[in-house]
Amino acid sequence: MTIIVTGGAGFIGSAVVRRLIRETGETIVNLDKLTYAGNLESLGAARDNPRHVFEQVDICDMAAVQAVLARHKPRAIMHLAAESHVDRSIDGPGEFIQTNVVGTFTLLQAARAYRETLAAEARGQFRFHHVSTDEVYGTLGETGLFTEETAYSPNSPYSASKASSDHLVRAWGETFGLPAVVTNCSNNYGPCQFPEKLIPVLILKALKGEKLPIYGKGENVRDWLYVEDHAEALCLVMEQGRIGETYNIGGNAERQNIQVARAVCAILDDLLPNSPHRPHESLISFVADRPGHDARYAIDASKIARELGWKPRESFESGLRKTVSWYLENRDWWQRILSGDYRVERIGLGKEASR
Ligand code: NAD
Ligand code: DAU
Repeated sequence: MTIIVTGGAGFIGSAVVRRLIRETGETIVNLDKLTYAGNLESLGAARDNPRHVFEQVDICDMAAVQAVLARHKPRAIMHLAAESHVDRSIDGPGEFIQTNVVGTFTLLQAARAYRETLAAEARGQFRFHHVSTDEVYGTLGETGLFTEETAYSPNSPYSASKASSDHLVRAWGETFGLPAVVTNCSNNYGPCQFPEKLIPVLILKALKGEKLPIYGKGENVRDWLYVEDHAEALCLVMEQGRIGETYNIGGNAERQNIQVARAVCAILDDLLPNSPHRPHESLISFVADRPGHDARYAIDASKIARELGWKPRESFESGLRKTVSWYLENRDWWQRILSGDYRVERIGLGKEASR
């Protein structure tokens, strides 16, 4: 049996591939273009497992996607490949429309045609799992939670492109009978997250004694989930989620960004007693806000708890400590990234908007 994971060289996709290789006996086909965010080193031992097959393919390339499906004959597709960083979507929205909208459309068309080639039993069992974000719901005020019934109201080019892809998946289910399930998750953190997202930015800048950029007043709230908990939830939904349904996934761990920054600093103070940058909190610096910055995200994850028995294993405190320790112990992983094209520079103020 074979499962295709798109975006399996990314932050969450690599956690899913590692988990599937570890916990199942199935062949896992990792379909990834290897953009700046894709890194096969994130797969660890799973990379060389004989059941891991890497296919360097762009999801917008119909012929290449069709060839992978015909060659590997998957029983399921878990679709994670995407442009994922909000700040980048402000400076260059074109790639987000291309990969997240056109790429998802291409994959849906290919999956639909492939499914028609299957014998009745395999056709009945096939499923398409679309991995999405809570950002499609827009922003919350001081109270309330996103449920699966919350109306879509995306505010950034990234979230608008993900909302579009969610709608395409729904339509392919309703109109063409493609057996699809969608998950919408809150902010992930953990090992192998590309150092452009808040938590790795804080850790790596603090290690170098650089200022820690907090957008606006630092009062924006995110609901943090440890990536391994997300990977577990995704595998559960892929196997047991009801076709045509959406499941919200969240960490039940709302924190203001300033609280996240202080927590990272406190862990670094503790783990690095001889650091010349202690107390790391003195590095915190408030900078210009993100345009269209959503105030608060918070997930009601009671449906997946009730129907599938999932809840997060890590608390924010335990998961954050593991994460900071991972970045301290895996300097090779991020030093290779930082020595390449990517520098931890501020982007996302809309100054380069062209595409
Ligand atoms: P990531 O940016 O770390 O990884 C994305 C992966 O997709 C990379 O390996 C990249 O090479 C690949 N990719 C990009 N464009 C591609 C294309 N055209 N064809 C094939 N592969 C391509 O992203 P992530 O944080 O791991 O997010 C994975 C998914 O989960 C995304 O769909 C994202 O919207 C969703 N999500 C992320 C979070 C989060 O907090 N990171 C939360 C909820 C949902
Ligand atoms: O909610 C799920 C989403 O979470 C995912 O769909 C996205 O793929 C993922 O990138 C993430 O989006 P955010 O925009 O919330 O994540 P980011 O790490 O960019 O920012 C988290 C918060 O921290 C946000 O309020 C902006 C703020 N921030 C971010 C950076 C990079 C800062 O204050 N300083 C920073 O340097």
